[in-house]
Amino acid sequence: MKIKILRQTLPNTEPYWEGFDVDVNKDMTIAGVLDHINYNDDIIDDTGKKTSRIRWECSCLQGMCGSCAMVINGIPALACETMIRDLKGKEITIRPLQKFPVIYDLVVDRSIIYENLKKINMFIGEYIPVENKKPKKREKELEHQYEVAKCLKCGLCLEVCPNYVNGNNFFGALFANDCYLVSSRNQSKLTEIIQGYEEHFGKTCSKAFSCMDVCPMHIPTLASMAKMNRYY
Ligand code: SF4
Ligand code: FES
Repeated sequence: MKIKILRQTLPNTEPYWEGFDVDVNKDMTIAGVLDHINYNDDIIDDTGKKTSRIRWECSCLQGMCGSCAMVINGIPALACETMIRDLKGKEITIRPLQKFPVIYDLVVDRSIIYENLKKINMFIGEYIPVENKKPKKREKELEHQYEVAKCLKCGLCLEVCPNYVNGNNFFGALFANDCYLVSSRNQSKLTEIIQGYEEHFGKTCSKAFSCMDVCPMHIPTLASMAKMNRYY
């Protein structure tokens, strides 16, 4: 199969496409394909030229860390969760996320995600739950908190969001979910979090909801937004 990868040597150099002919099977993931290309002592491209190893990030290889987020056939996804059998066509294109600065090849700098969270002290701190809730309602609340806490900070929701631009005032879906999680676990932070939510999410979100389509953890962002909007 032809695999085309958008490569970049350094943060300030021009990206370029490089093709590889790879012997794949339908049960491989894109992470497996990248490993397969990198496995040999000599890495040969589809013109027969010797080239360098593809640089990309991974850690868990089981959809738990978010580090392998990239754009596969035009769709932002996790490389370790994307199976060859689910892709259409005879060619696969792989490029780095576009909403973050590229460091090299498929590796991007996503530190802005954490910098944005630090700006409004997005940490739970002390656990101060909501009082006087009916047991059934409370159980539902805990379920939602659990779902939201699965966020990998992979950045896929920011990649597809039409409103997210790296470095601007809008922090995207993962931020809205964290606003809900932190304020529902520690009620003493509610006022501060609501202000941050309004400033960095509520004012700008145009409800495209593409964030929910690509989220590998299927986080119910709409439900988090509904809860935050009710507080707000
Ligand atoms: S909300 Fe989903 S897509 Fe966005 S960072 Fe978290 S896990 Fe990734
Ligand atoms: S390597 Fe951890 S999510 Fe893909």
